[in-house]
Amino acid sequence: MTTQNNRIFLSPPHMSGKEISFVMEAFDSNYIAPLGPQVDAFEKEFSDYTGIPYCVALSSGTAAMHLAVRYLGIGPGDEVFASTLTFIGSVSPILFEGATPVFIDADRTSWNMNPDLLEKELEACNRKGRLPKAVIPTDLYGQCCDYERILGVCEKYGVPVVMDAAEAMGAFYLTQSDKGSLLCDPGRFGRENSVHAGCGAKAAVFSFNGNKIMTTSGGGMLASHDKALIDKARFWSQQAREPFAHYEHTEIGYNYRMSNIVAAIGRGQLQILDERVKKRREIFDHYRTGLKDVPGIEFMPEPEWSGANRWLTVILITPEKFEADREQVRLALATENIEARPVWKPMHLQPVFDISGKGAKTQRPGGKKRYSARMAGGGVAEDLFDRGLCLPSGTAMTHSDMDRVIAIVLKCRAKKKLTA
Ligand SMILES: Cc1ncc(COP(=O)(O)O)c(C=O)c1O
Repeated sequence: MTTQNNRIFLSPPHMSGKEISFVMEAFDSNYIAPLGPQVDAFEKEFSDYTGIPYCVALSSGTAAMHLAVRYLGIGPGDEVFASTLTFIGSVSPILFEGATPVFIDADRTSWNMNPDLLEKELEACNRKGRLPKAVIPTDLYGQCCDYERILGVCEKYGVPVVMDAAEAMGAFYLTQSDKGSLLCDPGRFGRENSVHAGCGAKAAVFSFNGNKIMTTSGGGMLASHDKALIDKARFWSQQAREPFAHYEHTEIGYNYRMSNIVAAIGRGQLQILDERVKKRREIFDHYRTGLKDVPGIEFMPEPEWSGANRWLTVILITPEKFEADREQVRLALATENIEARPVWKPMHLQPVFDISGKGAKTQRPGGKKRYSARMAGGGVAEDLFDRGLCLPSGTAMTHSDMDRVIAIVLKCRAKKKLTA
């Protein structure tokens, strides 16, 4: 029974009960290691689900992104385009390899990388003969970016795309034109022209962190249509161990492989994913109904080409109309033991990056390094950050939990009116 003060988390893990039998299988087989039958089965089932034929299960989404970045030969002196409105794990691998990020602003229709701005920036770089080594767009909050536009414009300039689909398990993209252009099996998601998030990119990154729509406690997947890419990533993820009994190394790798026990959790979570997407979408609809017609509240839009998983329900609060701002609402929820969070702080506003163009690698007090970056646009992401609030969206939430959240949001407005 939910009591009035029970903590409501933003997006806690939600086990189905199926996971434990796979975990028991892992124990029974004694593969308590970063390899084993559960890992193999999880990879196969992931590929069957997404339609992306090759994949490697890893310790995190950030590890997956790092391997993709390294595979593309990205290094010092290179630029890599990335969404500014994202989580740091999307971008830090660019810095691991010594390259420079160029942050691209979001658009208003999807809150994802703006394809027009991307095209303009690619054109400008091409004129200078200095194209980026890769483009890394994020599928924000489980909504695909405009794949056809973004993949199309990158293809024109021969720039590979690594899709950060960390938040987008179970999300799909509805293709508009040539149904085969995204290389997956269109129509696998109940709509004739739909493909799973990540399809068609050179590589796609997924996260199974504890807050995601499906979780393995921590973990990630790198998926691709390119077998050579996945084979190499698998090799690097296991300390680049050559196939000799005495552990021979001709390259330096990482300890990035997913454990067999963790993969067992993932198998159970994958079986229930469609249901979880349905529930997240219902949660979104419940909030939207409860906050319908409230002046100053808008919901994250869903363009016609998007089948979002609605990982998190995100609202925008316009203080002049709502009469309270995002932070006042977040704190009111926190006081009532409810976790809500601002939209990701855009990368170009992060103190670790220097977009002044004055030449960075500046040292801050305490020896913290700053990294040079460039920025295209930025106003949209800044506005979404200022006004955006992620509401609790865990799939174990009840209607009364959601109603509790809605009532507190509405109370912020009423309170302000009374005190005015
Ligand atoms: C957009 C985005 N990119 C990358 C990551 C990194 O994934 P992980 O936490 O598994 O390293 C996350 C999630 O945490 C994310 O939300």
